Amino acid sequence: MRTTLTTLQKLAENNEKFTVLTCYDAIFAGILENAGVDALLVGDSLGNVLHGESTTLAVTLDHMIYHTRCVSRGSNKAFIITDMPFGSYQQSPQQAFENAAKIISAGAHMVKIEGGLIMADTLQFLTQRGIPVCAHIGLTPQFIHQLGGYKLQGNSQKSAKQLLDDAKILEKAGAGLMVIEMVPAKLAKKITQTISIPTIGIGAGVYCSAQVLVLHDMLGLYRSKKPRFVKDFMAGTNSIQEAVASYVSAVKTGQFPSNEHEF
Ligand code: KIV
Repeated sequence: MRTTLTTLQKLAENNEKFTVLTCYDAIFAGILENAGVDALLVGDSLGNVLHGESTTLAVTLDHMIYHTRCVSRGSNKAFIITDMPFGSYQQSPQQAFENAAKIISAGAHMVKIEGGLIMADTLQFLTQRGIPVCAHIGLTPQFIHQLGGYKLQGNSQKSAKQLLDDAKILEKAGAGLMVIEMVPAKLAKKITQTISIPTIGIGAGVYCSAQVLVLHDMLGLYRSKKPRFVKDFMAGTNSIQEAVASYVSAVKTGQFPSNEHEF
């Protein structure tokens, strides 16, 4: 049976953690969901890991549609979330709807958009028209040139308050899930306790409702230095299937992320 947004929301309500990994093709879609991964994120990180770019900014709508189709063909069980790429939704709610509809037609069950308050109208426009949306706050890689690097967010009182306010506004606008990337664990905990939709952490500590990692990172395949929040689940295992099952078990039992992976 297919995992739905309702399944994920019920798991979070019952304090059962769920698991997400990025996925870009059909073979991995099958491997990941058979190892117990609940949701597959067709992330625009494919620009980094597949295309060799240093940012996600060159990823196009056509790339995201193509990889969503690949993942969708290989998947029978998992909930599929696809990133809307840079430039495909920021202009207007209408632009976002037109492009999100193409991603949903390609097989995604939800789209993900980056940004806080500024994206609330767009998020509401999409959800009111039948397109589930995952919000993404904290380190938002599509804002890299404004953020000045891939660094911790929400680490001052002012920016922490801003992120908490953003989370509340995006929930009110209709977000179904919320990715929180690279913020102090204490802040992610506060956000998770304040809003009622599930939070999905990456570099945001153990208190989120779920965890996500870039697939290649958790398999120990890095192009540069391993980020602090990543664990290499391939180390000490004999197969990709075993590594993914070990990630699923570590997240569900609260063993990952541990102190060494959080801020
Ligand atoms: O594109 C991606 O892989 C992501 C995750 C890092 C959350 O957005």
